[in-house]
Amino acid sequence: MSETLPVSAIKNGTVIDHIAPGQALRIIHLLGLQNSTNKVTIGLHLPSKSMGSKDLIKIESRILSDAEANEIVVFSPAATINVIRDFEVQEKVRTRLPSSMKRVFLCPNSACITHSESVASYFYIAEDRKQIKLTCHYCEKSFDRDQVRVSI
Ligand code: CTP
Ligand code: ZN
Repeated sequence: MSETLPVSAIKNGTVIDHIAPGQALRIIHLLGLQNSTNKVTIGLHLPSKSMGSKDLIKIESRILSDAEANEIVVFSPAATINVIRDFEVQEKVRTRLPSSMKRVFLCPNSACITHSESVASYFYIAEDRKQIKLTCHYCEKSFDRDQVRVSI
């Protein structure tokens, strides 16, 4: 282990490491961890040799689906997702940027139909010069990732 443990090790579950600073709380909402009963440890602005500063989330007794792991890439392309079994890192999950996301984001365009009709939000995802852009399927407007709120 290259870095000292800033928070204690977990027995079974998932560690999401190297999260871009500031994105951990959005990932918490993405995964609905605020409403779950799983034990969760959150580290914000922890020192990191490779990134300077990073966020980190440890979730006891939960394994992410492939879709959930890929959605995390939208918030933090450099995040690493580790599956922990019996205190050992069993797997580093391979991820890729999804091409679209349903339900998670709220369209910032107040005139968008998603605010007046009960339709689930739907955004197309693209990476442009290292910036993640979201385009609403309904109003067709594009936004930077951090302009778009996560529904909770
Ligand atoms: N970890 C944990 N509980 C364990 C084992 C590991 O919380 N029982 C955490 C570590 O603290 C680290 C992450 O899981 O944040 C990945 O562990 P490891 O691969 O050992 O760390 P690094 O070598 O630093 O990972 P990387 O290759 O991603 O830099
Ligand atoms: Zn819209």
